[in-house]
Amino acid sequence: MKHGSFLIEGIKRFREVGTLVESTKFVGKAMAEEIKGSKTVVEFGAGTGPVTKEILKYLPEDGRLISFEINENLCKYLRLIEDPRLKVVCDDVRNINEYCDEYQCIVSGLPLAVFEEQQRQQIFDIIRKADIYVQLQYTPLLRKRFRKHFSDVRVKYVPVNIPPAFIYVCNHQDNGKN
Ligand SMILES: C[S@@+](CC[C@H](N)C(=O)[O-])C[C@H]1O[C@@H](n2cnc3c(N)ncnc32)[C@H](O)[C@@H]1O
Repeated sequence: MKHGSFLIEGIKRFREVGTLVESTKFVGKAMAEEIKGSKTVVEFGAGTGPVTKEILKYLPEDGRLISFEINENLCKYLRLIEDPRLKVVCDDVRNINEYCDEYQCIVSGLPLAVFEEQQRQQIFDIIRKADIYVQLQYTPLLRKRFRKHFSDVRVKYVPVNIPPAFIYVCNHQDNGKN
């Protein structure tokens, strides 16, 4: 049912969902292990929650995870995850200021490649304030784009996913937020 809902939403709103299949737990783990002890993690584009569940495994006991998902039909799967550290926000990430004022780490599944340039720019304006930014993509060719905002960018490849995934792990080396 969950996979079917994701497929249907992916077909109906491809420019928002960006794929037809939710991520595997291998992608979730590869992203989650990069939060490196961060206490406040914000997830962008949580979908049905495969990455959310993995982040909760790495989040400290006194940590907080705020997971944004714009699609109400997908949010209902996130609300089934029982964990007091998790807050599900069914809204556009561009409204983040209404829900939290500081965050150390952003883990994002947003399909940036299919967004309009203006929307992508608005999202980068939020993302670059984080110390650690982890982004799911399906191409290895975006390193330059992320280097505009973060001095240190690493790419991890996860073949066990449809399509195979590239995880961009971005940090401010000098911790100076540009
Ligand atoms: C590629 S899917 C990734 C879903 C999930 N993280 C995974 O890996 O399976 C992208 C998700 O971002 C959500 N999304 C797109 N634009 C958004 C926005 N502006 N704010 C919040 N969520 C958004 C979509 O509804 C979709 O569920």
